[in-house]
Amino acid sequence: MYADGRRIDEWRATRAESTPEGGPIGHGATTRTLTRRARGCGGTDGVLMTGYVFETSDLLDEQRKYMQQSLDPMTIARLESLEVGPGWRCVDVGGGGGSIARWLGERVGDTGHVLVTDVDTGGLAGAHNVTVRLHDIVDDELPDAEFDLVHARLVLLHLAQRDRALARMVRALKPGGWLLLVEFDCTWMPVLSAPDDAAEALFGRFHEALCHLLSGSGADIAWGVRAYRALQDQGLVEVGNRAHAEAWPGDSAGCRWLHVNSLQLQEQLIGTGLITDVELDALRGLLTDPTFVVSSYLTISTWGRRATAV
Ligand SMILES: C[S@@+](CC[C@H](N)C(=O)[O-])C[C@H]1O[C@@H](n2cnc3c(N)ncnc32)[C@H](O)[C@@H]1O
Repeated sequence: MYADGRRIDEWRATRAESTPEGGPIGHGATTRTLTRRARGCGGTDGVLMTGYVFETSDLLDEQRKYMQQSLDPMTIARLESLEVGPGWRCVDVGGGGGSIARWLGERVGDTGHVLVTDVDTGGLAGAHNVTVRLHDIVDDELPDAEFDLVHARLVLLHLAQRDRALARMVRALKPGGWLLLVEFDCTWMPVLSAPDDAAEALFGRFHEALCHLLSGSGADIAWGVRAYRALQDQGLVEVGNRAHAEAWPGDSAGCRWLHVNSLQLQEQLIGTGLITDVELDALRGLLTDPTFVVSSYLTISTWGRRATAV
């Protein structure tokens, strides 16, 4: 239910008349203008500008693909354990390439519905029961008490105003609805095997530069371990978590993802002063070498449910 008393179905019908598919959710065009102004940046169609470090580029599809290949099996296992099923109303916040929204759409069937939001909707496709919305979780409304499931993966970690975004996500839950966050603890990423000590040290420098860069942009690189308490603080009940890590050998989807990140952030990484362009070239070679094996980030799923009225 929205604060003004409308249910999402009613809201969708009115928005369909006033806002083209992919338009911003919540306050119409005004929101989009304000969001851009508030963050001090410009934007292009289908993209709201925020402090998110990975900007739109021709590498974004590759990044999304390897991210999804690396994380979907574990995420889907967590969603299954929450028993997401036919008729559920779900929102996937910051849906990226849309694989989880697609999975949810199939799972909830014709009687359910999935809303998938992002500040960049370029990777998202709608379906008969999946609605795509351009939406900034920091600044734009979600309907109150509307969803059986709110899911976000690797979104809040990046946002300096994650508490505000989290509170909005919690308000969007129906009584008894589940929130599932899948987030990293980026501080934990040990090299498991390397051709030599120099290769291990090189990866260490890349990882340090990446963490430095993310932290400088407002990310909380250890957010994965802090999410549990944050959900408790929001008053959620039945809070639980499960951590997952796995080996990423050179040329795996995980190492390809890191490879793409090193290209997307090349200038900023060099700008940290912690790694050079020559070293980044060598790192990319290492990330395709199967004798190099790094652990994935510690990937922490945290869930909790909105209490039902007593
Ligand atoms: C690391 S990607 C994760 C994408 C997707 N959740 C996944 O795991 O495959 C983070 C996503 O959050 C989106 N994002 C960043 N800031 C956002 C905001 N303020 N509101 C909504 N989405 C945001 C980005 O555009 C990007 O698609």
